[in-house]
Amino acid sequence: MNEKMSPSSESDIRIKTDIPFPWEFPGRESGIHYFREVSSTMDVARDMAASGCPDFTVVIAEFQSMGRGRLQRIWHSETGGLYFTIVLRPDMEPALAFRINFAASLSLAKVLQKMFGVDAKVKWPNDILVNDRKLSGMLSEMGVESGRLSYVNLGIGINVNNAPENREPNAVSLKKLMGTVVDRRRLLSSFLDEFQAVLSGGPPADIISQWKQYTMTIGRHVKIITINDSHEGLALDVNDTGALIIEQEDGTRIEVIYGDCFHG
Ligand code: BTN
Repeated sequence: MNEKMSPSSESDIRIKTDIPFPWEFPGRESGIHYFREVSSTMDVARDMAASGCPDFTVVIAEFQSMGRGRLQRIWHSETGGLYFTIVLRPDMEPALAFRINFAASLSLAKVLQKMFGVDAKVKWPNDILVNDRKLSGMLSEMGVESGRLSYVNLGIGINVNNAPENREPNAVSLKKLMGTVVDRRRLLSSFLDEFQAVLSGGPPADIISQWKQYTMTIGRHVKIITINDSHEGLALDVNDTGALIIEQEDGTRIEVIYGDCFHG
């Protein structure tokens, strides 16, 4: 376990949040690296991946000064949220890496429903929403060597005891939903267990079909915005490659592989 926190600074945090220290996980200690502050857990994870860290190494930070979101956005990362990146070393070709993100959003929606009884749903591709408000977002980066994945770094930000709604009216935290401070360590531990179980259980095609049971995008009118483009129509399905199939107003169907999804 890698700690960048002194006992005195920890006691300050204890007063404000959920007494997370130490971030110990029986049976997992060697794979968990906790930092009080980093630029982004993605940066730390990338360095660790390059230095050969093992599969399922987890980098957690209390605070990120330059947290990153999808499509070049900033992910504001104030104390109280849960910010982590998992370094995965799947033996697969790069084109199949999307399965990891779908496995993660499926696992997180399941855990949130089970632990807190909230109506957590996935918005394509991998946002977690409760009552149409964003609770969590995911970002992944990969390294490729000789046509195979050398790593996939999956970064997850979850609004737990922070207050994102002050800045972002369409966001919500678990603390707000539950009316009480939530134990981030327990949430992370349950998520890691579920995620490992989903990744190792059953054929990969099952991940997408299970994911569909937790999504609220299929059947909705959607607008997908990418950096250079936008598409609009009825979300019909998600295919085996994770692409969203949209029926446009003129009846034509398109497959969208990435973008920001807005529900109509
Ligand atoms: C999004 O919804 O745009 C994705 C947000 C991903 C945020 C997480 S927080 C942990 C990891 N570190 C980062 O800088 N970003 C991801």
